[in-house]
Amino acid sequence: MTFNDNFLRACRKQAVDHVPVWYMRQAGRYQPEYRKIREKYSLMEICELPEVGAEVTLLPVQQLNVDAAILFSDIMIPVKAMGIDVDIKGGYGPVIANPIKSVHDVRQLRDLEPEADLPNTMETIRILRRELKVPLIGFSGAPFTLASYMIEGGPSRNYYKTKQMMYSAPEVWGALMDKLGSMVVTYLKSQVAAGAQAVQVFDSWIGSLSPADYRQYVFPTMQKIFAGLRDIGVPTIYFGINTGELLTVWKELPVDVIGVDWRVPLDAARKRVGSEFVLQGNLDPAKLLAPWEVIEQNAKEIIDLGLEQPGYIFNLGHGLFPEVQVETLQKLTEFVHQYRNGVLV
Ligand code: CP3
Repeated sequence: MTFNDNFLRACRKQAVDHVPVWYMRQAGRYQPEYRKIREKYSLMEICELPEVGAEVTLLPVQQLNVDAAILFSDIMIPVKAMGIDVDIKGGYGPVIANPIKSVHDVRQLRDLEPEADLPNTMETIRILRRELKVPLIGFSGAPFTLASYMIEGGPSRNYYKTKQMMYSAPEVWGALMDKLGSMVVTYLKSQVAAGAQAVQVFDSWIGSLSPADYRQYVFPTMQKIFAGLRDIGVPTIYFGINTGELLTVWKELPVDVIGVDWRVPLDAARKRVGSEFVLQGNLDPAKLLAPWEVIEQNAKEIIDLGLEQPGYIFNLGHGLFPEVQVETLQKLTEFVHQYRNGVLV
């Protein structure tokens, strides 16, 4: 089998054979095989064992025929290596024993040295590059989203503590953003050196900020991150949820691909960011529980909008969840591959 580089070509706005598709959280509990592996290993253990991590990463590629693999890991893995005592509870999320409160706490954080601190993650990437016939996406959490866990101590609905620090202790917030921003650049560069062929920055919870606050408290860090990744030689992707109002700020970032959530139609997203960016998205993952006709109709509408300009990758507006059927995703992947085949621009 030859290497399927449609995903990378779409990231570069080059011609593709079919619309490339992958799914956020494409490895996970909706797969019986994953659940079986989870009976034996915790999430952290899977991330720590290169052979198992590679196997889990490969599962959806084989099962769904998607056009890209995403490294099986978690956004909190490098944070743990920086000295934060984090555990991940399935069905809940990351739990932190020593949340960040002061500049002292920020100074205590180690600067990440990926090859020394996360040799197993780097090894997983190397194994995957040998085995895969589709591109491998590396990833990192973005500073705001990581900071929200580090400050709140776990998942949060309103991010009050995070925002309190942001508004009331700018020196602590600034120090934390700087520290995490450097980590993201270092971590992603190492992933690429080990074999990752694209990188996605997950800023899942950034939509809790207004555009003005985003610009003031987070944008400078994101600007530094993507500027720092400019010469990395692989496409960069930035994704968040509830980002409709932030897209007009995101358009100033030197990033290649913007992940759009399902609330913003892709033509509206393009109006907000301009035609320079490749778009990725944006089926509501909840729709995967709808009857097939509803899924197909929505996928058609999304793909038609996506293909209005060169540079489009099909994905969901957020990650898969355990109730989704493998068969639905197989059918959807096949549909995306077939739908505009032959009429691509
Ligand atoms: O297939 C893939 O997408 C790669 C693996 C991956 C995981 N986490 C594994 C995982 C990726 C890319 C992530 C990113 C991640 N982790 C994000 C950003 C993306 C997003 O979904 O918003 C966030 C916010 C986290 C933090 C996190 N980890 C949460 C909130 C949870 C709990 C959610 C849940 O459904 O249980 C986790 C646990 C986690 N990370 C699981 C997986 C597959 C859950 C399954 C398990 O416990 O086995």
